[in-house]
Amino acid sequence: MLTQNELKQNVAQAAVEYVLPFLTPDTILGVGTGSTVDIFIDCLGPHRSRFRGAVSSSERSSARMAALGIQVFDLNDVQGMPFYIDGADEIDHGFSMIKGGGGALTREKIVASVADQFVCIVDESKRVDCLGTFPLPVEVIPMARESVSRQLAQLGGKPALRTDFVTDNDCQILNVSGLAISDPSQMEARINNIPGVVSCGLFAIAGADVVLVSTQDGVLRMEK
Ligand code: A5P
Repeated sequence: MLTQNELKQNVAQAAVEYVLPFLTPDTILGVGTGSTVDIFIDCLGPHRSRFRGAVSSSERSSARMAALGIQVFDLNDVQGMPFYIDGADEIDHGFSMIKGGGGALTREKIVASVADQFVCIVDESKRVDCLGTFPLPVEVIPMARESVSRQLAQLGGKPALRTDFVTDNDCQILNVSGLAISDPSQMEARINNIPGVVSCGLFAIAGADVVLVSTQDGVLRMEK
């Protein structure tokens, strides 16, 4: 029986093998954040001479890549990228995701939006029939924390401030439990529309394009 860490190791390695044939000396990769991505970065490090560098979605991933000699680029200096590789906290059968457990959701959404293909790397525990058991992270401008909370409550959620946490953008996160997310794209649009919301951890309007799922029987690849 593989442990969760071994499952993450396998999917991280599979993601490197998935992108490797497409890498050229000019390639810039988009790299997400989280414990699965940490392992992906470690597996990618030995191949750093095969591509130009990466745009990162967090200070955490930037530091890890820099330590391995992967050049980290500012998104403003990059025209586009073939792949964005990131984990998820939950992913449904339509490839909509909840992300932001690590608090990097806004930069993740920005970098992902520039990539041609979002490659989601998860172990099988992240696959769900309906999103919402994992509390939905919503990044907010601090002065709007209470007004946003009231509107999230009107949508049926129970927002709780993530304590002792400030995002890379100097904002705060509300973890919203109890939302019935039957239509992820519609919920994402409604939350995005609340003044004071920087971004929400639903990645549904633009979900994943390719999902690599690590199971006890190997890594499965699913494409849209
Ligand atoms: C970071 O903000 C998140 O979106 C992560 O990508 C997500 O939480 C998955 O992280 P793990 O790989 O640590 O489960």
